[in-house]
Amino acid sequence: MLRTPLVNVMTAAAQKAARGLIRDFGEVEHLQVSKKGPADFVSLADKRAEQVLFEELQKARPKYGFLMEERGEVAGSDTSNRWIVDPLDGTTNFLHGIPQFAISIALERDGQAFAGVIYNPISDEMFAAEKGQGAFLNGRRLRVSARRDIGSALFSTGIPFQGRDGHDPFLTQLREVMAVSAGVRRYGAAALDLAWVAAGRYEGFWERGLSPWDMAAGMILVTEAGGFVSDMDGGRDPFTSRSIVAANADMHPVLLDLLAKAGK
Ligand code: IPD
Ligand code: CA
Ligand code: CA
Repeated sequence: MLRTPLVNVMTAAAQKAARGLIRDFGEVEHLQVSKKGPADFVSLADKRAEQVLFEELQKARPKYGFLMEERGEVAGSDTSNRWIVDPLDGTTNFLHGIPQFAISIALERDGQAFAGVIYNPISDEMFAAEKGQGAFLNGRRLRVSARRDIGSALFSTGIPFQGRDGHDPFLTQLREVMAVSAGVRRYGAAALDLAWVAAGRYEGFWERGLSPWDMAAGMILVTEAGGFVSDMDGGRDPFTSRSIVAANADMHPVLLDLLAKAGK
């Protein structure tokens, strides 16, 4: 069980914010008929969850800064510590009544992901990791998958949608990966995709066009579970390139090669 003071703060904040999300998720289906429509309601649910996370994390560590999806940057007096928060990852799923969404909280220390918590309130799965302490799911130690054969490997990705670029290059990447693997999933919540790589459910995950709050907590989870994380060019900076490749040690170079073959 991972019970460091830092992880305790993060899991408690996630659990508190989750209560509102669970309530609002239950409401979503009734809202299909409401005047304003469900999208406004979901964006309110998102903002309410972020407010709870902001208050709880600030109470526990008053000097730390924030980078939050809705609120943006909030500078702290302690410039080496910053929370990176997505209050609701998987918004489209939430809006459609699909129970695959999560709260994602990372602590970045001196520019590096130091601790991460990803919580799916519907399955009650709490993924947590801290640098040097390992990665855990509800207290059980996680290891990335041991599969080394591309033919039995299952991958996850994100498909660009309306308003995102890179539709054609994505199709080329998909063609490369689907031709040689056991399958490719698109489940719609990048934070959970990364947590599932840490849990060994997927051998690897790739996506372009992501933001730091989609990736930060998942990056520390995957590395603490023994996996590899890079950007799509194999470099070390997913935040700047806004792309990520995360996989077990054997599949990481194989996946990178396939994506490179597909071109940009
Ligand atoms: C999105 C999800 C999705 C990914 C998108 C993200 P949001 O985050 O993680 O899986 O494909 O690129 O923007 O908007 O639901 O927080
Ligand atoms: Ca997100
Ligand atoms: Ca979000």
